Parts: sequence; C-alpha cells; structure tokens
Amino acid sequence: MSVTILAIESSCDDTSAAIIRDGYALSNLIANQDIHKEYGGVVPELASRAHQVNIVPVTHQAMVKAGVKAEDIDAVAFTRGPGLLGSLLVGTSFAKGFALVRNLPLIEVNHLQAHVMSHFILEKDKENRIPVFPFLCLLVSGGHTRIIVMNSHLDMEVIGNTIDDAAGEAFDKCGKIMGFQYPAGPAIDKLARQGNKHAFSFTKPSVKGLDFSFSGLKTNFLYFLRDRVNDDPDFITNNRTDLCASLQHVIISILVGKLVKASIQTGIKEIGIAGGVSANSGLRDAVSAEAEKRKWNIFLPEFRYTTDNAAMIGIAGYYKYLRGEFSSQDVAPLARL
Ligand code: KG4
Ligand code: ZN
Repeated sequence: MSVTILAIESSCDDTSAAIIRDGYALSNLIANQDIHKEYGGVVPELASRAHQVNIVPVTHQAMVKAGVKAEDIDAVAFTRGPGLLGSLLVGTSFAKGFALVRNLPLIEVNHLQAHVMSHFILEKDKENRIPVFPFLCLLVSGGHTRIIVMNSHLDMEVIGNTIDDAAGEAFDKCGKIMGFQYPAGPAIDKLARQGNKHAFSFTKPSVKGLDFSFSGLKTNFLYFLRDRVNDDPDFITNNRTDLCASLQHVIISILVGKLVKASIQTGIKEIGIAGGVSANSGLRDAVSAEAEKRKWNIFLPEFRYTTDNAAMIGIAGYYKYLRGEFSSQDVAPLARL
C-alpha cells in the first residue's frame, strides 16, 4: 500500500511544505523570510505573520509540483516543536485544519529528530544511500548543537549538548559583530574560503565530556575586535576574510573534536551531520578528512535538506505513520520539547 504524506514546517523563519510518498520526496518547497535580515535575527512576531501569508501558497505549490491532489493525501505531518511559539502555531493550526476537513490522521514531529531523519529521505532517479543503525549524528543548527545516537528510526539518544549558545548562533552573533546580515553563516563560509584560518586565534572552551559551549568564543571575538577597531577603525574591513576563516576554523575544530570523541566513546563509525550549519563547506571538508583517516562511513546531507525544510518533517512523519503514531486534534505546539 502506498502512503502519501503532506508535511508542514514552520518552526522558525522558513515556511515549508513537502509531499513524501513511501519515503520519496516528491516536492519540498521553502519560502524564506527576507524581512529579518535588517534586524540581525529572527523577529518572532514578523515570522509568525509571514508564515500566515506564505503557508497556503507554499502548500499549494508543493502539491502541484508533486502532482498530488488533496484526495491523494493519507496523513498530515507537522512540526510540533521546538521553535518559536507564534511560528509553530501557524503550521500546527494549518495542519490540523487540513486534517480535520479531509478526515486525515495527524502526525506531530519533533523538529530536531526530523533534522537527523533527513538522512533517510529518498529521491527518485538517484542512488539513495541511507545510514544503518546505530548511527551517530552531529546536529548543528541555529538553535541546537547536539550529538545524537540513533538506534532505530525515531529512537534517538542525546549524548552531547551545548550548555549555552548553538554553533549556528556563534556564526550569526559573531557575524553580526562584523556587520553581516542575519543569518551570517553562509556569508562567513563564503569569505572564509579566501582567508587564512591561522591568521587569528580565538578561545576554544574546555567543556566536559561530549558537551559544547560557544558563548565564551562570542565574547572573546567581541573583545578582540573592539580592541583592534580602537587602534584601526578599518580593521574589520581590511581583515574580513582572515577573520571569517579563523572564526570558522575554531568553530569547526570544536565540533569535529567532539564528534571524534563521540565516535571513539561509542565505537560507532556510521556518522552524519545535520542542521543548517551542516551546509558549511569547511565542516563538510573537516568531517570528510576525519572519515578518511578513521574509516568512517559518512553521510553529508544534500544542501536542500540542511536548513529547515518540510521534507525532513515528512520522512519522520512517514516512519511514525508506519508505526501508527498519530496525534489528536487537541495537540498544541510546544516551544520546548
Ligand atoms: O537548521 P536551521 O535552518 O534552523 C534552525 O533550526 O536553527 O539552521 C540555521 C542556521 C543559522 O544559524 C545559519 O547561520 C546556519 O544555520 N548556516 C550556516 C551555513 N548555512 C546556514 N552556518 C555556517 N555555514 C553555512 N554555510
Ligand atoms: Zn532546524
């Protein structure tokens, strides 16, 4: 029996809808919200309003692109959390409404689980490689930095977590100090390729076990720049590529150092990265180099599945559908899960 899922993602500032049929992504549409750029971060009230504007056209386009009509859909999956409450409310309400009108089962999905599940999305006319269990995944996004052991679809254990900022926040906040628009990660990645990663050195925190910390690095970066700019007002402009390369280098070495430690500790060599920061070219290169050295079987997500997208919600929803895990119409979004 074929199963077709409509998936909705609205946890932060991207409105996304996807159609997943039997594990294959038939479509995955994303509407980005440029409005936050000038504010240096996501403004929750503006995000929520933009989701309201985008959600119907994005869903419609996802269905048209997949060649799927409302009557072909078997279930509606949506992000219940974690995320911004006002943003989650839009996606949750829309999913509930769609399911209610068509009398379809509703499937709530944990956004973080979905990022890891993005490695299980299948695509037509492609050689699809998917991880075997146990699978070790570094989840690095704007809101989270975690090391997760996945023992089966949807059975995940967090073995490392950030004690303060997320890796994506380190990129975004340090980028803001340098005058970049939000989100700064992609711009830093691009400029870092032209810079010298050993030009400047920044603090690497010492945190126990498999946990992370990035707030000290941000403060270190801020004070370093404040002192240099005092002496030379053009310091940032004149050293932009080296600053980006050096900052990116320290973030990557913190992340990869803990991933290596986690692999040694668990004995797992089936390894992936996920989340917005997994799009970073330096991180992808560094993980590939470790894989070569340590004989890891690695999974780097397709770029379209790194940042927030509904296909990952749909694949998590598909496995929940197979398990018969449904939600009632009383379900409410949760900012923290
Ligand atoms: O997963 P995501 O779309 O949203 C959350 O769930 O947080 O991740 C967004 C984060 C932002 O912090 C953004 O700066 C970062 O991912 N990001 C990158 C790159 N592309 C996106 N960071 C570094 N390098 C990139 N190429
Ligand atoms: Zn995310």
